[in-house]
Amino acid sequence: MSDTLRISFPRKGVALVELNRPKRLNALNNELMRALGDALDTFAADGTTRAVVIAGDERAFAAGADIGEFQTEGPDLAQWDRLWASPLPRIAAVRGLALGGGLELAMSCDLFVVAEDARLGQPEINLGVMPGAGGTQRLIRAVGKTVAMEMVLVGRELSGREACERGLANRSVPTDQTLATALDLAAEIAAKAPIAIRTAKRAIDRAYELSLGENLRAERADFYNLLTTDDAREGIAAFVERRLPTWRNR
Ligand code: CAA
Repeated sequence: MSDTLRISFPRKGVALVELNRPKRLNALNNELMRALGDALDTFAADGTTRAVVIAGDERAFAAGADIGEFQTEGPDLAQWDRLWASPLPRIAAVRGLALGGGLELAMSCDLFVVAEDARLGQPEINLGVMPGAGGTQRLIRAVGKTVAMEMVLVGRELSGREACERGLANRSVPTDQTLATALDLAAEIAAKAPIAIRTAKRAIDRAYELSLGENLRAERADFYNLLTTDDAREGIAAFVERRLPTWRNR
């Protein structure tokens, strides 16, 4: 078992998955994403887990995909397909930072509980790339084109409170109540009829994602293409070297 995740079962029928890379602000590396896919597959098969809460810690839900890996093996975004295909309802409990892939992970959950003062954003543009795990598609469906454009093109952040007002999150609550609120919601779902929950979730997903599959594949292709540009190499190197990037438009 990878130590990038901590797994527990704090309520009947509820699995809690806590991202566990605190020194990297829970940046989502390939090992963590594989472990998350494995965990979700295991829960789906165990016959007792009915809902899953995904949480980080107070400082960060997750500060994005692991930028260090962009310079080595590259992000294995195919791992996200397993997450999206998982039949169990997932509830995100977001405190602190949810940036880039972190916000994309939260948005891919079925319910989203957020701390009022959480910081949500898609800052990939500052690295010379763009969201690659659903950001351009799921954000626009929740907050509309105007806000999505500002978040993706300018890097504007939303607070947890704003995210809730704009329909991106279900509940915004004080930080110290975020995890408990998410676990309570999960326990409510876990107590309901499992087949009905599974079928209703699938029906909503189908309606919501009708053209999403193609768009996600196109987004991924765009993201991988951007990773090959000089500007992306420069943006990533500048982040690692803690300096400002110089863009060359190529
Ligand atoms: N990947 C890898 N490491 C990261 C990281 C990331 N996404 N975010 C933070 N870290 C690391 C930092 O490098 C740092 O490591 P060291 O202590 O070894 O130097 C540690 O986590 C703590 O971070 P900071 O010292 O930078 O903390 P801060 O409070 O000063 O700043 C921050 C916090 C503003 C979030 C800043 O860390 C930051 O800008 N992080 C990058 C955010 C980002 O660009 N996310 C998008 C990634 S791309 C993506 O997600 C693509 C996609 O769609 C799939």
